[in-house]
Amino acid sequence: MDNKIIKVKDLDFYYGDFHALKDINIEMERNSVTAFIGPSGCGKSTFLRLFNRMNDLIEDTKMTGTIEIDHENIYQKGTDVDYLRNRVGMVFQKANPFPKSIFENVAYGLKVNGEKDKSYIEQVVEESLKGAALWDEVKDKLKQSAFSLSGGQQQRLCIARCLAVKPKIILMDEPCSALDPISTSKIEDLIYELKEQYTIIIVTHNMQQASRVSDKTAFFYLGELVEYDDTRTIFTKPHKESTQNYITGRFG
Ligand SMILES: Nc1ncnc2c1ncn2[C@@H]1O[C@H](COP(=O)(O)OP(=O)(O)OP(=O)(O)O)[C@@H](O)[C@H]1O
Ligand SMILES: [Mg+2]
Repeated sequence: MDNKIIKVKDLDFYYGDFHALKDINIEMERNSVTAFIGPSGCGKSTFLRLFNRMNDLIEDTKMTGTIEIDHENIYQKGTDVDYLRNRVGMVFQKANPFPKSIFENVAYGLKVNGEKDKSYIEQVVEESLKGAALWDEVKDKLKQSAFSLSGGQQQRLCIARCLAVKPKIILMDEPCSALDPISTSKIEDLIYELKEQYTIIIVTHNMQQASRVSDKTAFFYLGELVEYDDTRTIFTKPHKESTQNYITGRFG
């Protein structure tokens, strides 16, 4: 069986005339964690946003090549982008809960999708909060504003919100960079648990984090995918000199 959930072929991406991603080819396995690393401006976030077509929202951009998710070209005409964004959820650097209660934040996607069954919504909210390792901390205050939570709790709430619409893939763009070490380690533990059910891509500037949480690591430099391999290989015996230089902190 083909266990590759994501296949990227001959991908190029432009902001106007600027060639931001150059001839990227990569495949990712189901239920794995892939880390994207590389110096600032190398294209990690740009690439990540292509998997749920978030770059569609930016004017004057162009993509060539293909991205297949579950054997379906997500850029072909007729793709249901809302459905795609349910299947491919995203968690950002800064937790961005809505100005609503904890409960309503998690229920939001279901309601937008037209779900009306109250007990089903309650069940999914509970499952999602449990899935995001937040339930025990919030179960007695679901009606409180999401803003009453700590930064780390807000980030887990955003993960719960993403889980509620039952994605297959979760994109995380530096999800811990605004968090303290304890919240960071909670999110890292969570990533480890989530990969049983989800495929995760995480952008990180933290080399220790990449080596702790990911199975595969992709190193980007100036818009190119320089090296992609088992995380252990990337961090112990990379094949390219620029990977070696980056992971040992010589630049970036
Ligand atoms: N909306 C945009 N319009 C024009 N250029 C952009 C836009 N977003 C990003 N770029 C450019 O594309 C390149 C890649 O940016 P991107 O944000 O993907 O980098 P990154 O690897 O995520 O960096 P960082 O680690 O700093 O987040 C950069 O040169 C950036 O200036
Ligand atoms: Mg970025």
